[in-house]
Formats: sequence, structure tokens, C-alpha cells
Amino acid sequence: MPNPPQNLTIATTGASGSLFLRQLLLAVEHDSRVSHVNFIASDSALRVLAEELQIHGRSNLVGQILFADKRPAKTSAKHSARDASKPGPHKFKEQSNADIGANVASGSYPSDAMVVIPCSVGTLARIANGIASHLIERSADVCLKEKRPLVLCVRETPLNKIHIRNMYRAADTGATIFPLIPAFYYRPASLDELAREFANRVLAHLGLPQAHAFRWKG
Ligand SMILES: Cc1cc2nc3c(=O)[nH]c(=O)nc-3n(C[C@H](O)[C@H](O)[C@H](O)COP(=O)(O)O)c2cc1C
Repeated sequence: MPNPPQNLTIATTGASGSLFLRQLLLAVEHDSRVSHVNFIASDSALRVLAEELQIHGRSNLVGQILFADKRPAKTSAKHSARDASKPGPHKFKEQSNADIGANVASGSYPSDAMVVIPCSVGTLARIANGIASHLIERSADVCLKEKRPLVLCVRETPLNKIHIRNMYRAADTGATIFPLIPAFYYRPASLDELAREFANRVLAHLGLPQAHAFRWKG
């Protein structure tokens, strides 16, 4: 893997935590070290995005997520359509989760690392058990077989033993379990700041430290 990674796969699934995804995408959009991002959303992710960020439909999904805070709180279909028409950043390529023929489905495609944020326990279960019938699980499977970094931002509470076993299985195969558990000791002033520092930690873990990230000085 080149250090820092230039070609990322970012996937999102039907777990709560769209704010964290949004902050990760914003950071990656502004990071000139990253040149390519393949973005995949499961169908359930769309359901959660509708609930948490009032985003509707798949059209220009990355653009909609990035501009989500530019909309009034009560979003009308008219506003959604306008946001969807804004061009998304060029480095992002949106892939269909149904397209198991997409670039990232093959180990020959040079994806440097993958993040699933948030990662549902359903997707975790499929990744941990090698069930690669959709693009998200297939590209995660490729990362594991090619020994590339795979970060799973798992979100569920409480956890049952199946979840815990699956986290163990995925970690044992090489994934990093990076639960959506933010820190509080830097006293975040807002939910966005809380999520931004979490995204900064994920990126630092991948070799993309962010200049303005909080650093504990002791
Ligand atoms: C509003 C909402 C919040 C949800 N939150 C979670 C969650 O935090 N963690 C989780 O594992 N599943 C959560 N689910 C359930 C998943 O979306 C569901 O299990 C789905 O089948 C996961 O599909 P996917 O893994 O293909 O994205 C939530 C569903 C909804 C509608």
C-alpha cells in the first residue's frame, strides 16, 4: 500500500451514524493525498440516511451527503432534487452494491484500503463469514485476501455473542474493528465536531493524519 493511501473504498450500511460518514467524506474530499474514492451504499444505508440526514434517493448520493447541512431542517422534495443536481466531487465514483462486476470486486484493482462506516452487524456478519454476494462484502473480502487494510466502524448496542464472535472472526482475518465510539476528552462543542474527530482517528489509522486533528498533549 502506498503511504499515504491514494485510492480508498468507502462503504456505508444500514447502521445508525450517518454524521460520522459525512465527516469522513468531507475530510477525504479535502485531502489532496486521496485521488480516488469508490463509494458504495447498501439499500438499508439509504433508509438510515433518509432518517438521519433527510437524504432521499441514490442520485448523486455523495453530493447529497456532503451538502446535507446546506439544506433547511425541513427538507422538501424540491430541495432534495436541487442538491442531487449539484455535481459531486470528481474523485468520488459511486458504485452499485448489486454490481459485483465493479472495479473493487477484483484484487487486480489497486484499491489501497477500505472503510465501512457505519458498519451494521448484518454486514459485519457477512464479511466475517465470507458471504460475498454484494459489492460491499465482496470488496471487503478482497481486502482481506489481498492483506489490505479493512476498517469496520461497527455500530450496535448492546452486543450479543454472535456480534462479538463476528468481530473476533473479522479481526482474526485482518480487519480492524473500529467501533463507532467517539471520545469526549477533547470536549467536542457539537455533534459535528464529535464525528469529525472520530473520522480523523479513522484516517490517521490508515496513514492519512489530518492537520487540524485534536492531539492529546498530556
Ligand atoms: C433507523 C435505523 C437504524 C438502524 N440502526 C442500526 C444499527 O445501529 N446497527 C445495526 O447493525 N443495524 C441497524 N439497523 C438495522 C439494519 O439497517 C438492518 O439490519 C439491515 O438489514 C442492515 O443491512 P445492510 O447490512 O445490508 O446495510 C437500523 C435500521 C434503521 C431503519
